[in-house]
Amino acid sequence: MIQLNVNGRAVEVDADPETPLLWVLRDTIGLTGTKYGCGMALCGACTVHLDGQPVRSCVTPVAAVGAQRITTIEGLSPNRSHPVQRAWMEIDVPQCGYCQSGQIMSAAALLAKTPKPTDADIDSAMSGNLCRCGTYQRIRSAIHRAAELAGDQS
Ligand code: FES
Ligand code: FES
Repeated sequence: MIQLNVNGRAVEVDADPETPLLWVLRDTIGLTGTKYGCGMALCGACTVHLDGQPVRSCVTPVAAVGAQRITTIEGLSPNRSHPVQRAWMEIDVPQCGYCQSGQIMSAAALLAKTPKPTDADIDSAMSGNLCRCGTYQRIRSAIHRAAELAGDQS
């Protein structure tokens, strides 16, 4: 059995240690907000946080997680009140939506580290998150808006 901390909850899973974290989250624990895109760390759809750092869960063996806190899109806030979620809704960022939980998790990690990011900061932090619908301009606007909303909260 492997012990995990997922969205603040202790979870015990019976999984092969080499299983990618993505499949443990989706199939074993039932948190399907995290998406599978490429399986090769190339698209960012599977992004979750480990101790606040964005990681690609499709290439992270579950055994490598250890005691690190896993945060998925479901655990970002209890009621969609995270500034990134509020900004995303305000600007109506998603198109098909498939890439968006990964985008939001990368954006949240960026803002935790860099509360007032420049366009260059955003482009650099988000470059590994692909969107086939081309929502990049709205993503960038929403990250700036989330920075404002987070500033209003503090
Ligand atoms: S599914 Fe993990 S980066 Fe594409
Ligand atoms: S919203 Fe469709 S892939 Fe990004």
